[in-house]
Amino acid sequence: MRPVILDCDPGIDDALAIFTLLAEPGVAVLGACATVGNVPVDTGYRNLRDLVALCGRSDIPCFRGADLPLVRSYAHDPLIHGENGLGGVEIPQSEAPEQAEHAAVATCRLLREAADPVTWIATGPLTNVALALHLDPSIRERVDRLVVMGGSTARGNVTPAAEFNVWSDAEAWRVALNSGVRITMVGLNVTQQVACNEEDFAEIQRMPGSVAQAAGEMLGYYEGVSLREGWGEAKLHDVVAVLEGVRPGICGTMACHVDVEIGNALGYGQTLVDDRAKLEETNCEVSMAVDAGKVRRAMLSAIASF
Ligand code: RIB
Ligand code: CA
Repeated sequence: MRPVILDCDPGIDDALAIFTLLAEPGVAVLGACATVGNVPVDTGYRNLRDLVALCGRSDIPCFRGADLPLVRSYAHDPLIHGENGLGGVEIPQSEAPEQAEHAAVATCRLLREAADPVTWIATGPLTNVALALHLDPSIRERVDRLVVMGGSTARGNVTPAAEFNVWSDAEAWRVALNSGVRITMVGLNVTQQVACNEEDFAEIQRMPGSVAQAAGEMLGYYEGVSLREGWGEAKLHDVVAVLEGVRPGICGTMACHVDVEIGNALGYGQTLVDDRAKLEETNCEVSMAVDAGKVRRAMLSAIASF
């Protein structure tokens, strides 16, 4: 079994990534954490618990994390994911008890307790990740890979320079990049190649079950916003990162040196990817290609499996 810890900010594409992760055979999800990002952390934590319960997996402990970025301020923008983070879609409330442990503390404990090195997947800002790495830097030895949806080898999506997860807390990315943990970056340069098509939407509409219904309604909202804003089809950013985590190689990667801009207001959150770095200077495997069809098919079969 592949042990996995998820850190996310649900968020519609996070929700689809959670469905994809929980349906993946051979994966043991040790815990799931919510961080501030797409929505305030209390909203994200509620969504995480409810999504996990919707999949029948209330056995997975869910933890509340950071309510603010490390340094910069936070302002919730409901434009893309709606006020409730799930496009206004209502799902049944989880009856599982809330966990008292902070996500960063729980992550350190779960990593120390794990029998084998853990695949740590982050689909939101890295605030919890940075807090955990500061709480106990030795946890990096317990991590097989930290697979992160974030950054870009090209332009951003919040500013011309910055992708949302990095822009939300660039200082946290700096902590992760300097921590020595083995990172795989799944940036916009690959995730923007992956979106559902008409056939996918029709297939989801035909699926029975509450997960498929929720997925179809969330995707419909997400697609509507994306098309209305002129961004094209809604991109499955977080689904790509989760699948790279549990099916290594679905993204073609390259060892690079990556740093992040934190000092310059205009460029804040830009990931500076040096693909010419000497091997000994590299600190990140950067995704350069993705099999978009495989990602879409994996997500559809995951949704159908509940
Ligand atoms: O830029 C895309 C990322 O920002 C995704 O993780 C999405 O959920 C938002 O958090
Ligand atoms: Ca996300």
